[in-house]
Amino acid sequence: MKRPLSLLLSFSLLFLLVLTNCKSRPAAPTGLVTEKAMVVSAREEASKIGAEIMKKGGNAFDAMVATEMALVVAYPFAGNLGGGGFMVYRKSDGDVGGLDYREKAPLAAHKDMYLDSLGNVIPEMSTKGATAVGVPGTVAGIMAVHEKFGSLPLEEIFEPIIELAENGIVVTENQANRFAAVKDRILEVNDSVTTFPIDCKVNDTVRYPALARTMRKIAKEGHDGFYKGEIAKTLASFIQEKGGFITEEDLAKYEAVWRQPIIFNYKDLKIISMSPPSSGGVTINQILKMIEPYDIGDFDHNSEKSIQLFTEAARRAYADRNYYLGDPDFTEIPLDVLLGKAYLENRMADFSFEKATKSSDISEGSVQMAESMETTHYSIVDAQGNAVSVTTTLNGAYGSKLYSDELGFFLNNEMDDFSAKAGVPNMFGLIGAEANSIAPEKRMLSSMTPTIVEKEGELWMVVGTPGGSTIITAVAQTILNGYEYNMSMQEAVNAPRFHHQWLPDVVIFEPEGFSNDLIESLKSKGYLINEERTPIIGKVDAIRVLADGRLEGGADKRGDDTAVGF
Ligand code: DON
Repeated sequence: MKRPLSLLLSFSLLFLLVLTNCKSRPAAPTGLVTEKAMVVSAREEASKIGAEIMKKGGNAFDAMVATEMALVVAYPFAGNLGGGGFMVYRKSDGDVGGLDYREKAPLAAHKDMYLDSLGNVIPEMSTKGATAVGVPGTVAGIMAVHEKFGSLPLEEIFEPIIELAENGIVVTENQANRFAAVKDRILEVNDSVTTFPIDCKVNDTVRYPALARTMRKIAKEGHDGFYKGEIAKTLASFIQEKGGFITEEDLAKYEAVWRQPIIFNYKDLKIISMSPPSSGGVTINQILKMIEPYDIGDFDHNSEKSIQLFTEAARRAYADRNYYLGDPDFTEIPLDVLLGKAYLENRMADFSFEKATKSSDISEGSVQMAESMETTHYSIVDAQGNAVSVTTTLNGAYGSKLYSDELGFFLNNEMDDFSAKAGVPNMFGLIGAEANSIAPEKRMLSSMTPTIVEKEGELWMVVGTPGGSTIITAVAQTILNGYEYNMSMQEAVNAPRFHHQWLPDVVIFEPEGFSNDLIESLKSKGYLINEERTPIIGKVDAIRVLADGRLEGGADKRGDDTAVGF
């Protein structure tokens, strides 16, 4: 049968229309969808407790306090009283802000504190045991949030957490594996004695009575209950007995700091992310702005061209990160220049799809990323539309591994995030410079990137992840997955990721999702590839606001991460 030309034309037009519509139509959700409020975190117990607080009438900030504290009990790998973190918030009226509760160097710290008499870095002194501990910021952080925005009484927020510590949590398979993997190092740091349940097996119930006591005191006495008096005394003398530097004075002087976040546009998105002393906001700003002129969405997701473009932008942004960024209270950071249009365009002027740019000659062999490392991120949206994005950490897995039996928690090894010696990589392979050198009371540079994204003036995404130096690229890729590749929140979180950080000059890939042909082709263009392929790049926990106002959770399939809401 012969079709008239006009009929054929209308069919083709219709087909084209459907195709275009498919690309612009928002992705159907594949993660948990709820009507009003949601918490996505590394553990179901913590997401549940956070969501319950909101059900009881608390807001996203009350839920932040609850989730942060529940993670101390349910996820001691990274959830902490002995660490620190960053929060970015966006209130339902559009007001945004950031909170820095990063650890800081003790008063006794000095630039060369981790160097021997020959000027060499003393192995493990900034990563293991009491010498690695920075002054913890977490309790100051939650108390600052509660004081400014909280609506429920502290003791009510802490009630389910104290109950959780007393009644115990059930050990998951991932958790049992982590206990087993780190057992010897915990015993070594704690002189072979610890009440931390390192011998627990899957499905055992673990209780934390000492932690419950500490939590009760904090709930009752707030900030000063931790930083002054009995807890401070016990903590400072414990750290000093073990050879560390933190004093009662260090604890008494600690304060969280409210900071203006980094805010920039990427196409029609407005991205709000953490400012220094985290490098997250500045570096994600640089990466996305360097990519923006090239329309990455025109290349397929994780295709050769999209990987090249992203890698070259990351290479240039991390080079700036490592040289210019540090604690803004100690270091002048030329933010206007680093984030300026002309500067960023110029940075990409020598980029070509034909050939990789070389980073430098630092030998790859000197970089160790052997230890399993952990931080944790959670995202919250409440029924009023307030949004909270928080990344918190002990740095390494169980931090310094130093555990106070009396107080029931681990202490961080955040001092390793300083640059102990210019040009020598830290445990994430990051090379630092003067801007991130050690000084008394200075905050060490971070990569944590708690981020909130607006689309057309409305809350659109709350996102963040652990992953050390890979945090920034994982957050950037998740935003691009949702925006440029139209993935649902859950798909955007689960999609395979890759990473590059200038030095070492290698691109790393997750094991799944990148074909050998792709890798070979990148190699032929001069990209140096980490052949071992890293098992995990981040564990992203995110929330997206759907077009109809409901919420979709993206809980990373790489961990026990869970979305809970109502
Ligand atoms: O602040 C930072 O950048 C690091 N201390 C974060 C550590 C981390 O994400 C480890 N997690 N996988």
